[in-house]
Amino acid sequence: MGRLASFKVYNKTCHEINPKKTGRFSNQAFLKPGVDVQVDNAIIIPMTDLKLARILAIETSCDETAAAVIEKGRVLLASTVASQMDIHARYGGVYPEVAARQHVLTILPVIEQTLAKAHLALSDINAIAATRGPGLAGSLVVGLNAAKGLALGAGLPLVGVNHLEGHIYSAWVYNADDKPSPKPHFPLIALLVSGGHTELNLMDAHLSYQRLGATLDDAAGEAFDKVARLLGLPYPGGPSVQEAAENGNPTAFKFPRAWLEGTWNFSFSGLKTAVLKETKRFEGGPLPVADLAASFQAAVVDVLFNKTMNAAREFKVKQIVVGGGVSANKPLRNAFLAQTEFPVNIPPLSLCTDNAAMIAAAGYFRYTLGHTDGLEIDIMPTWPLS
Ligand code: KG4
Ligand code: ZN
Repeated sequence: MGRLASFKVYNKTCHEINPKKTGRFSNQAFLKPGVDVQVDNAIIIPMTDLKLARILAIETSCDETAAAVIEKGRVLLASTVASQMDIHARYGGVYPEVAARQHVLTILPVIEQTLAKAHLALSDINAIAATRGPGLAGSLVVGLNAAKGLALGAGLPLVGVNHLEGHIYSAWVYNADDKPSPKPHFPLIALLVSGGHTELNLMDAHLSYQRLGATLDDAAGEAFDKVARLLGLPYPGGPSVQEAAENGNPTAFKFPRAWLEGTWNFSFSGLKTAVLKETKRFEGGPLPVADLAASFQAAVVDVLFNKTMNAAREFKVKQIVVGGGVSANKPLRNAFLAQTEFPVNIPPLSLCTDNAAMIAAAGYFRYTLGHTDGLEIDIMPTWPLS
């Protein structure tokens, strides 16, 4: 039990508590100068500091070991991403057991390096965020447990973050030295395009996701990876297809677009099969890799861009947000940036693929809106966004 002079007490959802009525409460209290209170078993956070909060986040959902510090939800102070790409390239995809072992080796140096880059100590941090899912179980466990250890050791709140939510929040992050990017404006449409997910979400407020539609088969990133393999291009497929496409003609092959009219869903498996059929026609001779890559990429971008624009019109949104590894794709970015109908936020290239800045950004809004977690939380490898 501690006695604090001159503070008001708030519960986890930031509602003011009358301490005399409520008595003791557990876990966490947000405090603001005002009246005397007694708190028991509470982490005490001055309310005046809440908006300025600094979040240290950890991301280990797949094959990147990452840590970052973000201030005020959008200002990136430091970010470190230790990629395992070279290790997995020899397998042509992520080898889960190897990824988990590599995270164990790398996680502490990555965290230490990140704090050093930000010129901060743990005592300067307000909360620890970590990816809880979706992702590879063996990888997620390493990051979440590291976060629990830090939270326990430093007496800081823990925030479990959904990786997909992180990809959306990456679109509002900017470097401390750069001009601020536009803030979130609701309602908005978020196009999430990663290696494992492709979905359109309508957001009316922070942390509120209404899934309008999703892929019925392959994710957009998965389609890039599979087509790269068909074309003999190296892993990861997205950047290799994009590079090969630069010398190709996007109209050389008339690949199908699955519009799935009347729904906000996507489908990319038919497109992948169409590419496969074309490669078979060239068996025994040289493959027109550049033209196939360019025509495939044009088909993916066409569908992603136009369906997102139609959803934005239908729901009369104030902003479009694009996030996830495929948001690094140049023609996709150019399509959104060239239109003037809706303001668009797309993350800087360094934050498109997996990183911890996005987890810190989403973690900030979870934390300041009162969604902190206890140390008993577990990983959720198949955690949906909504
Ligand atoms: O978000 P992310 O790093 O990991 C997941 O959460 O899945 O996304 C990885 C995916 C991979 O499928 C990769 O091929 C794709 O993003 N990707 C790209 C590009 N860069 C990465 N796809 C198309 N064009 C790119 N430039
Ligand atoms: Zn991701």
